[in-house]
Amino acid sequence: MIRWEESDFMLNDEEKNQVLTDYQETIKFLNREYKSLMHPTFSHHSSMYTFTTEILSGYIKKLGVKDKDVLTVTASGDQILNLVFHGAKKIDGFDLNTNAYYMTQLKIAALKSLPYEEFINYFSACKSFEDAVFVEKKVENNLNVFDYNVYQKFSDKLPEDVKLYWDLLYKEFNYDGSKLHDSVCISSDSDTAVFANDYLQNATNYEIVKQKIDNVNINYYVKDILQLHTLSKKYDCILLSNIYDYIVSDWYGVISAEDFNSYVQNKLSNLLNENGIIQLAYKYHYKTKNVAYGSTLKKLFASKYKIDVNESLNKLSYKKILVPSLIKEYRKDKEMDCVYLYNSKKR
Ligand SMILES: C[S@@+](CC[C@H](N)C(=O)[O-])C[C@H]1O[C@@H](n2cnc3c(N)ncnc32)[C@H](O)[C@@H]1O
Repeated sequence: MIRWEESDFMLNDEEKNQVLTDYQETIKFLNREYKSLMHPTFSHHSSMYTFTTEILSGYIKKLGVKDKDVLTVTASGDQILNLVFHGAKKIDGFDLNTNAYYMTQLKIAALKSLPYEEFINYFSACKSFEDAVFVEKKVENNLNVFDYNVYQKFSDKLPEDVKLYWDLLYKEFNYDGSKLHDSVCISSDSDTAVFANDYLQNATNYEIVKQKIDNVNINYYVKDILQLHTLSKKYDCILLSNIYDYIVSDWYGVISAEDFNSYVQNKLSNLLNENGIIQLAYKYHYKTKNVAYGSTLKKLFASKYKIDVNESLNKLSYKKILVPSLIKEYRKDKEMDCVYLYNSKKR
């Protein structure tokens, strides 16, 4: 049975019911059957990323977003916070998962209230701030992740719907932040969070975002990537994260590579202002991806014969940005990730 103090919240009944539904659906997702067997599917109430899994510090600054209008995946909120850091004027977040909104708002409220190290120690699954900063260190679990005492320091700054959602989740997990975090979050990349995010690279950058955040207009849409064209807005830049990997796939995808290309060219591009750009895809260790998870023999070949496996994306993109991969297994080989860009100019 869910209860809260009526007087604590100013939400109207409809808004309250929406949060309750979101909370209940999140719990339902956590308790779903055969979860360990399933591919990490995304849905309206699936798990939340605490940090980006991409090296955003390797490409967002190169997109020239200062004073620009940007549409981005909401996800962990890291794309949004890096865009704020780099001076974006207006940011619209989209995500299939409503929970991405709750996570991003949690991050923004924490950022406004907590000092740099405390913010990292609250969100990061790494045992200590030092572990989070030095990516090569062996990561041990942070038992104080999502510490309820820290949550209480900033929860009053949350929008009421977001506060209600997190209050209910904390209650569900008996105010044990570590259990709550391990259940609802995907955080395998906490140890790369500092390196991957410009706004977290040092206390100075963190303070810059703190100062800028209230001056940026941020909106959120719960929307599938394939419905973005229904937005009646224009953007200078659109960030699609690595959603391509999930929707364009032979065995669990929903669209062929060719259809995705024509969706971008014929529909999504209509959202772009002149000279606008779309970050189409993010490919991890992109040249050897096909063979990297295969046999030892294949891996041997992969290191000798680098194969570019993303023909379809190559056709659509006008430019690629290579960024260093942080996946430990590959770092020693200087493996690169790759960001594919599309632009609205005639090419
Ligand atoms: C693809 S995931 C992976 C993490 C990502 N690389 C990052 O750095 O944050 C990012 C987000 O995409 C969202 N997502 C996945 N499929 C989607 C779709 N078809 N439409 C809209 N959002 C989607 C997920 O809910 C998740 O929050």
